[in-house]
Amino acid sequence: MTTLVSARSIEHGDAVALEWDDGAVTRFHAVWLRDNALDEQTRSPANGQRLITLNDIAPSTTIDRVRAAPASLTVRFAPEGRSVSFPVRWLRENAYDRDHERSPGWAAPDVETWDAALDAARVTGDYSAIARQPAALAAWLGHVRRYGFAKLTGGPVRSGALIEVAERFGYVRETNYGRWFEVRTEVNPTNLAYTGAGLQPHTDNPYRDPVPTLQILYCLENSAAGGDSAVVDGFRAARRLRDEDPAGFDLLSHHCARFEYRGAGDVRLSARRPMIELAPDGELVAVRFNNRSTAPITDVPFADMKAYYAAYRRLGEIVEDPAMAVTFHLAPGESFIVDNTRVLHGRTGYAASGGTRWFQGCYADKDGLLSTLSVLRARNLAADAA
Ligand code: FE2
Repeated sequence: MTTLVSARSIEHGDAVALEWDDGAVTRFHAVWLRDNALDEQTRSPANGQRLITLNDIAPSTTIDRVRAAPASLTVRFAPEGRSVSFPVRWLRENAYDRDHERSPGWAAPDVETWDAALDAARVTGDYSAIARQPAALAAWLGHVRRYGFAKLTGGPVRSGALIEVAERFGYVRETNYGRWFEVRTEVNPTNLAYTGAGLQPHTDNPYRDPVPTLQILYCLENSAAGGDSAVVDGFRAARRLRDEDPAGFDLLSHHCARFEYRGAGDVRLSARRPMIELAPDGELVAVRFNNRSTAPITDVPFADMKAYYAAYRRLGEIVEDPAMAVTFHLAPGESFIVDNTRVLHGRTGYAASGGTRWFQGCYADKDGLLSTLSVLRARNLAADAA
């Protein structure tokens, strides 16, 4: 482990510079350290929540004393006179004095983009295993985090079983479509998903804000000819557009599209969001792509609209490129989950006569999934350490 060699006050006490045994120098501001102090008057020992506001910290806060030990840094804040220690591991983990330059379309290191070469078997879990074995559940949820997509096999062929899948890690998001919805051919469908038509890969419900961040599609019958499922990594598609046409990528990420759904009399949903959403520092946040529910786009200047449409068309071509899609035919009791802010799903058309196709779908949210994953991983680490 890296150890702290020395620490000194710099910029008249506005910051400290730490020197590490690997030669690195890391600076921290006095106000940042005071705000993040780990003592019991600043952070609740019971729940870790901060007990003070920034307004409780004097704007003139500086550091007037610094003491470095191999495993900790102790600083004293003036004018308060409070001394606080920080473990060096914590300081290394939370260091911000580094190169922040990143190219638009970057993603966290544990996000891995993919195309048709992804082997779906690698991201498949077993229904009974994830129900009984925390390690199997953690591995399956980890696929969703890394790839935005995972399959599940060996589940019961029972209406509503998809809810049990969602409840393994979190909570169902109930919408106007219900706690779950039936995906099979209807006579007067309220949504084109409920027909035998093929569906271009899309994200669901972009007309909703916040958008449901997870979707589970669970197969109960699938003997119709066709009706294969397809998933496409929207992050990979967005990066491909960026690499081919950076100006087009900028247009789709800097201007909002509009999405709308008025399929049933008592529902009028609308949202204004970009097709490619980036954080202010260029991180890929979300992709929204759905030809059925894109409303008239009115937030793109006239001078840019033609180029915007060219980029929108190109993104659609990329999304439909077979080289991008992982396709599979689900059997009854099998399901898949997608990160609906990233991975598009679609299906090939199927004949309404001759065989049946019955899926159920539901929404859930990533916060619950990532929380469960984080808890399972922490327990696993603790068990390994014990
Ligand atoms: Fe869908």
